[in-house]
This record gives sequence, C-alpha cells and structure tokens, in this order.
Amino acid sequence: MRKYFLILFTILLFAVTGFVPTPQQNSSEETIAERVDSVLALMTLEEKIGQLNQLSFGIGWGPTVKVSVPDEYKQQIREGKIGSFLNAIGAEFTYELQKVAVQESRLKIPLIFGLDVIHGFKTTFPVPLGEAATWQPEIVEMSAHYQAIESASAGIHWTFSPMVDIARDPRWGRIMEGAGEDPYLGSLMAAAHVRGYQGDLSDLNIIACVKHYAGYGGAEGGRDYNTVDMSERTFRDIYLPPYKAGVEAGAHTLMASFNELGGIPASGSKYLLNDILREEWGFKGFVVSDWNSIGEMINHGYASDLKHAGEISLNAGLDMDMESRSYITHLKQLVEEDKVDEDVIDESVRRILRIKFMLGLFDDPFRYCQKEREEKNIMTSDIKIASLEVAKRSFVLLKNDKNILPLKKDYKKIAVIGPLANNSIDPIGGWGGLGDSADVTTVLEGFKNYVDKKTQVLYSEGCKIDDPSTKGFKDAVNIAKKSDVIILCVGESRDMSGEACSRSSLDLPGVQEDLAKELLKTGKPIIVVLMNGRPMSINWLNDNANAILETWFAGTMTGDAIAKVLFGDYNPSGKLPVTFPRTVGQVPIYYNHKNTGRPGDLKNHYTSKYLDLPLTPLYPFGFGLSYTTFEYNDFKLSTNKITNEDSIIVSVKVKNTGNYDGEEVVQLYVQDLVGSVTRPVKELKGFKKIMLKRGEEKTMDFTIHEKDLRFTAADMKFKSEPGLFKVFVGTNSVDLKESQFELVE
Ligand code: NOJ
Repeated sequence: MRKYFLILFTILLFAVTGFVPTPQQNSSEETIAERVDSVLALMTLEEKIGQLNQLSFGIGWGPTVKVSVPDEYKQQIREGKIGSFLNAIGAEFTYELQKVAVQESRLKIPLIFGLDVIHGFKTTFPVPLGEAATWQPEIVEMSAHYQAIESASAGIHWTFSPMVDIARDPRWGRIMEGAGEDPYLGSLMAAAHVRGYQGDLSDLNIIACVKHYAGYGGAEGGRDYNTVDMSERTFRDIYLPPYKAGVEAGAHTLMASFNELGGIPASGSKYLLNDILREEWGFKGFVVSDWNSIGEMINHGYASDLKHAGEISLNAGLDMDMESRSYITHLKQLVEEDKVDEDVIDESVRRILRIKFMLGLFDDPFRYCQKEREEKNIMTSDIKIASLEVAKRSFVLLKNDKNILPLKKDYKKIAVIGPLANNSIDPIGGWGGLGDSADVTTVLEGFKNYVDKKTQVLYSEGCKIDDPSTKGFKDAVNIAKKSDVIILCVGESRDMSGEACSRSSLDLPGVQEDLAKELLKTGKPIIVVLMNGRPMSINWLNDNANAILETWFAGTMTGDAIAKVLFGDYNPSGKLPVTFPRTVGQVPIYYNHKNTGRPGDLKNHYTSKYLDLPLTPLYPFGFGLSYTTFEYNDFKLSTNKITNEDSIIVSVKVKNTGNYDGEEVVQLYVQDLVGSVTRPVKELKGFKKIMLKRGEEKTMDFTIHEKDLRFTAADMKFKSEPGLFKVFVGTNSVDLKESQFELVE
C-alpha cells in the first residue's frame, strides 16, 4: 500500500512541479527499491531503453577531456536516450553533460560516467600484475582508494576495474591487467580492489566493475579475444573464484567478456549472467557489455544480426549495452514483436537506477563535478607517496649474485643504460589513464635525485626497445667502461602488453639482449632493471647478469622507486604472481598443474616432459629474493587428523638470518592426494607478509579448515573429500617444507 502511495505521490508531484523526489544516499535497500520503482513508473519504454544505452564520448577509444558537448549528444541526452557515458572526463565537462540530463530531459535521470581507471587516473600506480606482486591486499586496497579519489574528483563515478581474469598464458597481453595465475591470490586482489574503489560509497568513492566475466584469460594460444573452451570443473575451480570474490566484496557491476565459453559468447550466456551470477551468487548490481561485445556475437556466429544479438543479450541478463547500439536501435521493436518482454527491460532498468540512487546522483547529480575539488585532489603529494610505496613493494628481486645489491653508496660513476633508462612514457604502462610522461621520474632521474655529489650518473640509450639498429652500442660500451657498475634498463614498451597485445615471443624485443652481451664484455657488473607487462624468458640475463630486478611498469614514481630499492632504502619484498617460463614453448606453465599419469622425469624417456628443456620454469610462482635471508624451522601441525568441524593450526618459525631488516611472504600450499577427480600438485591456501628485523624470529600460524579443501568433485558438487593431504610452507611454490594430515568423516 505504502509503495502504491509513493508511486502516486511521485506521479502527482512530477505533474505539478516536474520534480522527481530522490532518496537520501545510504538509504536502505527497501527505500531505494521503492524510489527506483517510483521513477520506473514514470518512464516510457523508450526512456527505459535509453537507460540501457552507454556511449563513449568523442571519437575513438580514448578518454576525452573538456570539449564542448556537441548538439547531437545533447539532443540524445534530452530525449533520454543515453543512460551512461564512458570516456567523458573532468569536473566541468561532466557537469555540462549532467546538466543536460537533469535539467533538459523529461525525467531528469542523472547520467553515470564510467572510465577505465585501471591503475591510476592521473597519478599512475604499478600495473595490476605488479600490484599483485606485492602480495599485500591492503596495499592494493589503498592504491584503489587513491585512484578513486583522483578520478571521482574529475567527475568519474565508475571504473571498469578490477580485471580479475586468471591468466596462465603470458602471450596474452592482458595478463598485465590482472593478478596472474592463481585463484586464491587473484580473489584476494579482486576483493581488495573492490573495497578500495567503492569504500562505503560516501565521498569520492567510485563503483567497481569486475571484468571480464567470464573466462576471458583462457583465450586459446594467448591470442586476445580468442575462443575459450575448458572443462566446467577448471572453470569453476580456477577461473571463477576471483569474480565471485569481487561480487562477495560488494562490487556493484560486472562487465561481460568478449570471448565465447564452450560455444556460447559470454555476452549472450544465460548460464553466466543469470544462473551463476544472479541465482548462485545473488548478485544485485548490473552487468555492462564490453565494447560492442553484443554486436560481436554476429562474428561469433551466434546472432544473425544486431537485432538478434540484442534479443539474446538482454534475455540472457546483460543490462547495459556499451557501444553496440543494439538496444537503443532494436529493443522497442523486439518488445513489439514479443521477442523481449518489457518486464525484462524493467528489471535491467531497475538495476541501473538502483546504482544511480546508491551513488547519490538523484540527491545531487553534480556531487562529482566540483572544479575546485578536482584541482585540489589531482596528483597530491599523498597520492604520489602512495604510488611510490606501492611501486617499491611491487618489485621482485629475481637474482642477486654475491649480494651485489644493495648498491654501494660510494660508487664514483654509475652507467644507466638502455631504452628504458631515460624513458618516461613506457613506465606508465598500458591503460595508463591520463598519466602524463611529464610527471614520470625515469630511472636516470631517479638515480640523479638519489646520489650525492660524489657520484656521477652517466647515461646512454644503447638501442631502442624494438629496433634492429646497434648504432648506439658503442656509446653505451664507452660509458660502461668508465663506470663502476651498469644499471641496464630493458624490457617491453607499454604498448606491448594490454588489450590486443598478444605476443608469440617472450624474449626481449629487438637487440636489447645483444646490447647486454656487448656490455658484459666490459667486465663491469650488470644490474638489470626489467620493465614489462608479462613474464619474459630472460635466460641469458639470468645466466650472465649480476642482479635482476623485475619492476613491471611501475607508474609515475618509477625512477625514484627503483633508485630507492637498488640502493637499499627499501628491501625488495615482492613475489611473482605468475610463473616465468624458460621459453614460450613451455607455455602454458603454471604451478598448480596436475600430476599426469607419467610425471615428468628427465631420466625416464616415457614421461611428461620436453626433450629439449628442463622440467622447471625459469622462476616459479611465488618466487622473489630479498637483500636478507630467511630460515624456516619448527614446521608443525597442531594435529594430523581433522573432521569437518575442526581445524589444523600450521605453524612455522621464520628467522631473518641475513644482514638487513626485511619482509618475507610466508606461503602455505596444500595438495589433496587422491580425489574423485584428479587434483593439482599444489594449491595456494594462505600467505602472510611479515617484517623481520635482522636476527629476529617469529612464529607464523595458519589455520586450515575443511572449507579450504573444497573443490568441484566428480558429482559437480563443491565439497571436500576425506583422505590424505600434504601441506607445505615456504618462501615460494617450490622451496617448501612438507607435512601431511588426514581429513576424516
Ligand atoms: C574494451 C576492454 O576489453 C575493456 O576492458 C574496457 O573496459 C572497455 N574496452 C572500455 O574501454
């Protein structure tokens, strides 16, 4: 009854004043639902369809800042034909657009502005793969929180992040946008991002969008947009958990992926969008398509034309159409032809309006459009400090022969060499938002900022990232000869990873390795600084360089962060979130593989191996060195038998046995020895990052419950099975101490 009055009141009020009452932000779900219905009751079918339509502002894919609003857009907004824009940026510019929506359209429904804030808006943070290498969800949450502050201050309500696609194939360029190969680590990172962006949706928070739902990272051959086909068990146990974790952390939106999964494009999959997402997980938010992913179902061979594609997607549960224009063009006719039920459209509109209410846009449509706040909040010193902190923690020390690092502070001359040494554009990484090279410290600048007057920093580019010319080698060798140590900055350019950036080789591009070979001849120690968005096969460097620091693409504060870490102001603590193969021929290679009936054995011909390669990767998952050393002792289980009701405490003493204070990521893995289906050789089940002072020892405890041992069993139920389990603790996925317990009924 109350609801009925509310709707009636709304209609009357609108008729008299043209005013749509809005709920208070933070209202209860029930109040929001009532308010949503009160707006819905006023809407024509065309206006409803308009809410489902998202357009990119301007021409092309990139963000557009501060341009005047063309009449063509104004007219569409006035007519209620656009529910959302992506790529419209800036407090003033979004104000202009919003003004048309809330002052000139019939129902005054505010627009929602989305943008790819993937690892920063203007201040860039390390790419997500680098953030995952921190193994510190709380740091990633902080990073997302700061990214939200910057982008929300510039009018953005909604980010198309986090990308939580599990990736086991480093040829796939988008591996850089996610947290790597592991569902447990990936789930924690997904949830951390969501919490960081959304907060409590009060001031300066943005809505998260968990993407790309689902299975996008499983693209065959690592080729972007490619077919995905895998068993439902692998899908559920490996690929799905991070999406679920994002939903459980409260993500208000998801993005449907480009790929097909087992023959059904994700953007038209009722199974994904309804059965799993809404029925199984109880997701209440809305789903946006990827860019024209509805239209692409025609190429997939799943829809005959754009109209058919719209029918499939809407009926499957895809609420908002990004850029295919299928909904805006065809939905009305589809309703008239009874191919789409208006109730289904209503449901999608409800989901979208609900988020607009939750964001407080009906209360104050301009709450994200404050020019002064934008000026104040972009690139503040706080945000830069946060970016520096995350960058330092994301670096992974891959090699440190004879403890050449940290660098001595009394070197007279340091040669900073390589195509990434004085490069301020590539460290921004792919999807760098509005990141500007003018704001980035290069490695050369970082070194110059760091050293005192007694040390001279020399520079030579040596070669380009991906160019056959060796002309610059001579100059590089000359300055190397004059120096005490070489800092060699090599890797990929920012546009070699990210969307549509699949590569068939994981080797260093161009003549970078040849440059390293020439420099080696000088006899000077070589410290390699790697910048890249994917695992690389750097065997020669691993064999010949004195030290290697993986720095991914570290963002705005790159140079300062690298100098601080190389000189030992911060002791590296990152660990690999993904396996580094020796060669692309080993791909896919990941730590949580199955054993096979013939586990690899180089001495036994008829086993699962390559004739021409060792069994192991170059660097395993979870690997990363420190300037200090850690010793693991007294590995104990509180019991060797548990039932479904109790738990085991796994404890181990970790001691800092080296010469520096440092942090260690203590990792816990489990293996289920026999199952109703075969089980991985190891699965990450927990980790803790701890700080230990020189000589300090701490006891680390982990608790294992029955629920941690569940998987999709032979009957497709997610459950544990009684039997024997191995449990491992250690510094990476290979160097582990081992014990055993039994799960009894
Ligand atoms: C396509 C990409 O796949 C997706 O990740 C991104 O969010 C959209 N374009 C919007 O830019």
